[in-house]
Amino acid sequence: MSERRCASDADTQRAGEQFARVLRPGDIVLLSGHLGAGKTTFTKGVAKGLGVSERVTSPTFTMVREHACHNDQGITTLQHCDVYRVESLAEVLDLDLGELAEESAVVLIEWGELAESLFGREILRVDIEIGDDDARTLRVGGSLDDERSRALELWSRQ
Ligand SMILES: Nc1ncnc2c1ncn2[C@@H]1O[C@H](COP(=O)(O)OP(=O)(O)O)[C@@H](O)[C@H]1O
Ligand SMILES: [Mg+2]
Repeated sequence: MSERRCASDADTQRAGEQFARVLRPGDIVLLSGHLGAGKTTFTKGVAKGLGVSERVTSPTFTMVREHACHNDQGITTLQHCDVYRVESLAEVLDLDLGELAEESAVVLIEWGELAESLFGREILRVDIEIGDDDARTLRVGGSLDDERSRALELWSRQ
């Protein structure tokens, strides 16, 4: 488990941008934290880190937005999902989130804890806790191999 404190929304975006360097094609990232915690803010940073040029906004009403990426990590697409408004597990199943994580894509899911039971394979979890004032604590966990654990350990100290 790696932890990083972010004092401002710019900090959270930077944390996302640097987190993007740890991602690999096919990754699924579940984002959790209360409304306004910074899940979309973090995603904007990830998008920047993956070389997304278009503007990233909250996909609350569309549920999934697809962004083309330009990076040297072999990640061609960012699938940004928000399942906040989803009312049943059946609806989440309909989104076929696992399918979105085809080989060269990365999937980020806001309110991802709802979808956690649907993935039988390795996932990353990012939990954002709201602290005093504007501070946020980001905690990253999941099924991490040694290389990734080391990279995230460095990330937590950046
Ligand atoms: N340290 C921080 N990290 C992230 N967002 C912050 C921080 N401090 C203040 N904010 C503000 O909190 C809000 C977070 O919104 P958003 O990223 O849309 O949250 P979520 O997607 O989790 O509902 C934004 O208005 C942002 O400017
Ligand atoms: Mg959001």
